[in-house]
Amino acid sequence: MTKLKLLDLYCGAGGAAQGYIDAGFDVTGIDINPQPDYPGKFIQGDALAYLAAHGHEYDARHASPPCQASSTLTKGTNKGKEYLNLIPATRALLRVTGGPWVMENVQGSDLRRDLTLCGEMFGLGVIRHRYFEVEGWQAFPAPHKPHRGRVAGWRHGEWFDGPYFAVYGEGGGKGTVAQWQEAMGIHWTSNRKSIAEAIPPAYTRFIGGQLMQQIESAREIEALAS
Ligand SMILES: C[S@@+](CC[C@H](N)C(=O)[O-])C[C@H]1O[C@@H](n2cnc3c(N)ncnc32)[C@H](O)[C@@H]1O
Repeated sequence: MTKLKLLDLYCGAGGAAQGYIDAGFDVTGIDINPQPDYPGKFIQGDALAYLAAHGHEYDARHASPPCQASSTLTKGTNKGKEYLNLIPATRALLRVTGGPWVMENVQGSDLRRDLTLCGEMFGLGVIRHRYFEVEGWQAFPAPHKPHRGRVAGWRHGEWFDGPYFAVYGEGGGKGTVAQWQEAMGIHWTSNRKSIAEAIPPAYTRFIGGQLMQQIESAREIEALAS
């Protein structure tokens, strides 16, 4: 049987992609920068230009616009730098393209929170809350689980121990690449920046499973009705 095709915009090294692949999608990623470790098919280019020209060729679309404009982790360090917020334009173009879509971003971004996922829901070594906005289908939430402890690391000169890694930036106590790979469930790239920008594949495995079921059910109903 032919697999359903999913377009992965702003794909990075493919944290989101791998979860959709695991859920059974045929995934094509678009990124402005080369992504040699990407686990699906890869096309280098501008996400919005590709979406406008080819978005309709896919059964579903996912977008992870760069989050520097909204990340609470970088807001303080971004003073004086201008970051373009690509969320509104991406949302507008996804709506025009139609069909089911998912947009993901960091806590503090101006996404509608149809779903919020956390690493603890999947037993991961990161907290990494992420917002998901969806249209053209309905995502069912997962219950939030209490955190088992704190994020390990130095804060204001004091060391805090805990079961989670801070997978971003550099600095003392941030963890090795191997620890980040394990914590995130990302084993196909050792690029520290790519891992820091990624979402754990477990998130999109969860979303992708639901999305696939709904697309298939809608198609079965259409076939019965025609
Ligand atoms: C947050 S990261 C994506 C992470 C990815 N979803 C994952 O889980 O691994 C955002 C990506 O957007 C890319 N990017 C920035 N501007 C872009 C544009 N105009 N078109 C395509 N990609 C772009 C960056 O190179 C970066 O890889």
